[in-house]
Amino acid sequence: MKLVPINEHTIRPLCELWNREIGGEFPIREALFRQNSIRDANVVEAGSWAALADDGQSVAGFVVSKIWREQIEPLRLGEGMGWISVLLVGTAWRGQGIGSRLLGAAEQALRQYGVRQIHIGGDPWHYFPGVPKGDAQAASWLERRGYKYQNDVYDVYRNMMTEHPPDFPSFRDGASCVLLSPERKEDFLAFLERCFPGRWLYEAVKYFEYGGTGREFVVLEREGEIVGFCRINDAASPVIAQNTYWAPLFREELGGIGPLGVDPDCRNRGYGLALVQAAIRYQYDNGIRHLAIDWTGIPDFYRKLGFAPWKTYGVYCKSTQTEAG
Ligand SMILES: CC(C)(COP(=O)(O)OP(=O)(O)OC[C@H]1O[C@@H](n2cnc3c(N)ncnc32)[C@H](O)[C@@H]1OP(=O)(O)O)[C@@H](O)C(=O)NCCC(=O)NCCS
Repeated sequence: MKLVPINEHTIRPLCELWNREIGGEFPIREALFRQNSIRDANVVEAGSWAALADDGQSVAGFVVSKIWREQIEPLRLGEGMGWISVLLVGTAWRGQGIGSRLLGAAEQALRQYGVRQIHIGGDPWHYFPGVPKGDAQAASWLERRGYKYQNDVYDVYRNMMTEHPPDFPSFRDGASCVLLSPERKEDFLAFLERCFPGRWLYEAVKYFEYGGTGREFVVLEREGEIVGFCRINDAASPVIAQNTYWAPLFREELGGIGPLGVDPDCRNRGYGLALVQAAIRYQYDNGIRHLAIDWTGIPDFYRKLGFAPWKTYGVYCKSTQTEAG
């Protein structure tokens, strides 16, 4: 077995392996692999490898790892954190130490960057927020290697093929939900920097960098100020957004909703639900009938708007400091 770097040339065989193994539930597209594992500036090359089988051609498995490497002031994601974005070994090659070798190479590289805590998934430009719950074998394999289960998170889904859409929300206090206009971009980024200065600000900055115009953001305005937002994504969005990753599972288009956030000073007034309601309505009016919300820990909140758990993930992490050496 030989480890080779992951680059443009390895995209096709890695996607083929991925789709053979988990494509029934998580179908990968080459464009998505390129976006998340090649183009992402946070990939750690020294911790990202494809394992070539002894025939020198077949890809037996691969790992992609990341740390925060972007230079976008004032953003910092995951201080002291490293991520294993994806680790996969083909069924035919399991039980031969390949997974351990790939994980070992990734962990060693991350430690060399001073990483104190390693997370499975949840990276910038992640595929998964944790370990897909259906794979109990993967979870116990990681536990034997020092990873500790934290909690479950969910993707939730709503089918609107035969349902009536909700009314567009109306407010008695003069608030309104609108699509973000290009001239309000800076106001919107200032709102995110004030209320959600982490991952959601990062994703919005990247969205504009890749040509976004604002059509993917429903904002809630009150007295001329932005006090809440909900993102909506579809096939025409400038990046393949998390909640549309698994669109190939559907014959019709899949639309994404979220992230969703309301200014802490304006919560518990119905704004959060209203933003999702507006988001559903915008998607419905654009002809979208399958809706997914990814990575949430509050499925009961989304249940109020007809979303049910679709995929479950266990969050796992490991402290590198408890290890000897
Ligand atoms: C979650 C969030 C958007 C809710 O916004 P909000 O404007 O306070 O919510 P609403 O006033 O519309 O809530 C309406 C209902 O949802 C419930 N709800 C609100 N927050 C909830 C939560 N975190 N978990 C479960 N239910 C919640 C409320 O109790 C209320 O229920 P009721 O109608 O039975 O009384 C807001 O708390 C927030 O921005 N949180 C931080 C970001 C976040 O967690 N986003 C979601 C990640 S997937």
